Amino acid sequence: MTATTIDEQRVQQCVERLFGAYVESMLVLMIDLANRTGLLDALAEAPGTSAEVADRAGLTERYTRECLGALVTGGLVEYDPAAERYTLPPEHALCLTGGGATNVAPVSRVPTLLAHYVADAATVVRDGGGIPYERFRPEFTTVMDGLSRATFDQHLVESILSAANGLTTDLHRGIRVADIGCGTGHSTVVLAREFPESVFVGYDLSDDALATGRAEAAEAGITNVRFENLDIARIPDDPPFHAIVGFDVIHDQANPAGVLRRVHRALVPGGVFLMMDIKASSRLENNIANPLGPLLYSVSTLHCMTVSLAQGGAGLGTVWGEELARQMLADAGFADVTVHEVPDDPLNQVYVARAATA
Ligand SMILES: C[S@@+](CC[C@H](N)C(=O)[O-])C[C@H]1O[C@@H](n2cnc3c(N)ncnc32)[C@H](O)[C@@H]1O
Repeated sequence: MTATTIDEQRVQQCVERLFGAYVESMLVLMIDLANRTGLLDALAEAPGTSAEVADRAGLTERYTRECLGALVTGGLVEYDPAAERYTLPPEHALCLTGGGATNVAPVSRVPTLLAHYVADAATVVRDGGGIPYERFRPEFTTVMDGLSRATFDQHLVESILSAANGLTTDLHRGIRVADIGCGTGHSTVVLAREFPESVFVGYDLSDDALATGRAEAAEAGITNVRFENLDIARIPDDPPFHAIVGFDVIHDQANPAGVLRRVHRALVPGGVFLMMDIKASSRLENNIANPLGPLLYSVSTLHCMTVSLAQGGAGLGTVWGEELARQMLADAGFADVTVHEVPDDPLNQVYVARAATA
């Protein structure tokens, strides 16, 4: 047996790497806490002592000070020891507060949510199967809405739709559109409000999510949209749709190839499928340099892949990647596929897949 030589420097580097990861993971929990409680918003208003910030946010001073300690040592908040005052630099406020798409504080809810499922995952990793989608609701619905709402508000009409040539014009003229796996339906409502000549239907399996969409549409007085509880493996094709949009939904499916074929069948000739999905390669070796890689594979293990495997499905996973996505779209009948960036969104890209004209 040959003795393994241990490089002490690599051991040290590995320990540092691990503690770095553990520290960052705890900082994530504090970002989530500070975001949920309004601490970050209160600090963005103006610098202050822990008592002033706590007072502004309606929180207890002692917890506020401890949480601020984590945010200061984590490099997100500045601290003036002489005045005992805390400051959120304006650049950090842009990334951690407000209704814009640059506010990535809601992303912190993903690790805190998925941490609840590690014990269940340990069971399915050993025994096979998966954790069913219902186990993630209703919190998943809220978390997902927090991730995508600002992107839809700021970029859906201006950028994402314009990736598909002629679609905006058709929407102004009046066409039938389905939003598959619409979640809380904010994307559907944004589209219906912008294009009153067109009619929209949002499909999802989650009643709590659909109820949110119906309430938002009703509150805004929007009548050209409806929401329906339907498995998108059974999208109706009569009458067909002129456009189908699907935001972050295909890779979760039990039978993604079947859903893509069904989408193709439900479109008019020349109709367009606009699919927003994860920006990654299908090959692990191409994702090693992607700084978001650990997040993507972890979300897959603890949510996207497991919900598919729970149904005896394909378990495509979050990181099915562009190469496989293009192949599967082609196999489903889409001859013409282009891929586009989403502004302010390092996680997703948009595929524009067009059905052949008759
Ligand atoms: C990752 S979430 C995306 C939600 C929304 N499109 C967004 O971007 O915020 C996926 C959504 O698809 C829904 N979903 C998953 N599989 C489905 C199926 N087979 N039929 C209908 N909806 C489905 C889930 O309930 C969930 O709301």
